[in-house]
Amino acid sequence: MSHTDDARDEADASSASSPTADPTAALPHTAGGAPHTPPRGPFRAGDRVQLTGPKGKLTTLSLETAGEYHTHRGVLRHDDVIGQPDGSVIRASTGDEYLALRPLLNDYVMSMPRGAAIVYPKDAAQIVAFADVFPGARVVEAGVGSGALSLFLLRAIGPTGQLQSFERREEFAAIAKGNVGTFLGAVPDNWSVTVGDLVESLPDATEPQSIDRVVLDMLAPWECVDAAADALVPGGLIVCYVATVTQLSRTAEALRDTGRFTDPMPSETLVRTWHVEGLAVRPEPEAPRGQGGVLGRGHRGLDPRRRGRAGDERQEAPQGRPAVGGAGAQGRGGRGVVGGGWCCGAVRGRCGSVGCRCGSVRGRRGRTVG
Ligand SMILES: C[S@@+](CC[C@H](N)C(=O)[O-])C[C@H]1O[C@@H](n2cnc3c(N)ncnc32)[C@H](O)[C@@H]1O
Repeated sequence: MSHTDDARDEADASSASSPTADPTAALPHTAGGAPHTPPRGPFRAGDRVQLTGPKGKLTTLSLETAGEYHTHRGVLRHDDVIGQPDGSVIRASTGDEYLALRPLLNDYVMSMPRGAAIVYPKDAAQIVAFADVFPGARVVEAGVGSGALSLFLLRAIGPTGQLQSFERREEFAAIAKGNVGTFLGAVPDNWSVTVGDLVESLPDATEPQSIDRVVLDMLAPWECVDAAADALVPGGLIVCYVATVTQLSRTAEALRDTGRFTDPMPSETLVRTWHVEGLAVRPEPEAPRGQGGVLGRGHRGLDPRRRGRAGDERQEAPQGRPAVGGAGAQGRGGRGVVGGGWCCGAVRGRCGSVGCRCGSVRGRRGRTVG
């Protein structure tokens, strides 16, 4: 939890290249189907490949016929990768070995261009599970930011679902569309991005009670809970991902105040990587990196424990402590470890993953290799 949410909204904007250009202009849109299945089989020209070098350095590139990847240690020919199966070990001109793998979604979101700070994979996984996102679900998401969470949601809903994303900054929407289109090879037809504020745009974009899930990752989700409640089907879910204790408190109290959700279930997700090598089994000593996050979930419906007079449509607000709020009340909810690798367990011992020094390119991250 190293950023305020303001910073999350703005973070990394400088790293985005030409944010006003529409990076999807050159990308095809899918007609009648969504490109949700990653490519399989031998590498082809146009595929993205992640190369792991002798010292564990990762490089991602798009394969081109007759293309070359130059390093100060030599040249790796794209043609030597094209036609080889995923997980092959390719020799460069120097004899150095490079492991060629198709990039995972986790890898891709960590290295793609950013407008706003992304939801990291460990939180995206938790959001998808916590929000009970299912194949075929109709999901509303705001803001889109860089599109990281959009990619995980699109994968979870599959080609039969519908993702409607809202983003009030046009340049971020363009970056997100570029990122999604690049990873999937095309912008899926079952994904729409509306540029505008969620509260203003949602009523025009959706029928009342037509959305299964609402997922909010923004500075002030409490401003959106009424609009979300209108859009959600009875029994639908809202999940809000926030970066500070102040936001968590305001969001939870707003959900309670509407009287249209069951009691929220706030939580925080921490991930700790481990060093596991023979009898040396311990948590990684390096400082945790990445940001944590807290989730609040509300279930659209009347909570019998909080019901007011019989038959009341709106419930009484609970008589509890007031919400945390006001300037200067920024809380810290902990830090999370994101990503990391694990040792391959190969005879050579160490695999070039976090803390490893063996230099082997084989077996990184427990994926099968040729
Ligand atoms: C932290 S970023 C979202 C990151 C995104 N979930 C991802 O994984 O890449 C928050 C975004 O919400 C947008 N935003 C904030 N309030 C909004 C609102 N009321 N309606 C639409 N977008 C909003 C901001 O412009 C910003 O791009």
